[in-house]
Amino acid sequence: MIKRPLATATFLLAAAAAFAHQGVQNEAVKARMHSMTLLDKDLKMLISMAKGELPMDAPAAQEATYRIETGTPDITVLFKAPENDPKSEALPAIWDEFDRFAALTRDLEQAAATAAPTIQDRPTLAQAIANIGGACRACHKRYREQSK
Ligand code: HEC
Repeated sequence: MIKRPLATATFLLAAAAAFAHQGVQNEAVKARMHSMTLLDKDLKMLISMAKGELPMDAPAAQEATYRIETGTPDITVLFKAPENDPKSEALPAIWDEFDRFAALTRDLEQAAATAAPTIQDRPTLAQAIANIGGACRACHKRYREQSK
């Protein structure tokens, strides 16, 4: 039961693990990448907890989930301007259909808000990770270059 969502989330993080923002010149691009790094940090912490690499601490996991929820609206603000950089993985479709991009942002916010109060133990944490990670992936699939 636990294994599948975790495998998915781990795959997602492995794909995101390369710190692409090194050498980025454009400050706006750097800022939006940084917002992603913060989300990533909390999600990674949750995964470590679900895997037993960290002790299970439901209040700390809920807190990290709320941080994801409250940090998420920043995405819409930070990505609004069509800024670019040679190192950016953002696809131009973001600005062709910004409403759709913004809706995926709200989906993540909602997923985190819904998941936070359900976290009690490792199985409920794994489910929360699957739901949150799915919302990250839904946006990356459509709006983030996969090859870099
Ligand atoms: C609404 C869309 C959207 C959502 C939701 C989203 N991301 Fe992203 N993410 C992007 C885009 C677009 C980029 C590429 C930005 C660039 O390179 O300019 C990105 C880049 C990243 C990066 C690479 C940052 C870097 O330094 O280059 C990481 C890590 C990341 N996202 C993690 C996450 C995690 C974890 C979540 C969920 C908790 C998440 N993202 C949710 C759109 C999204």
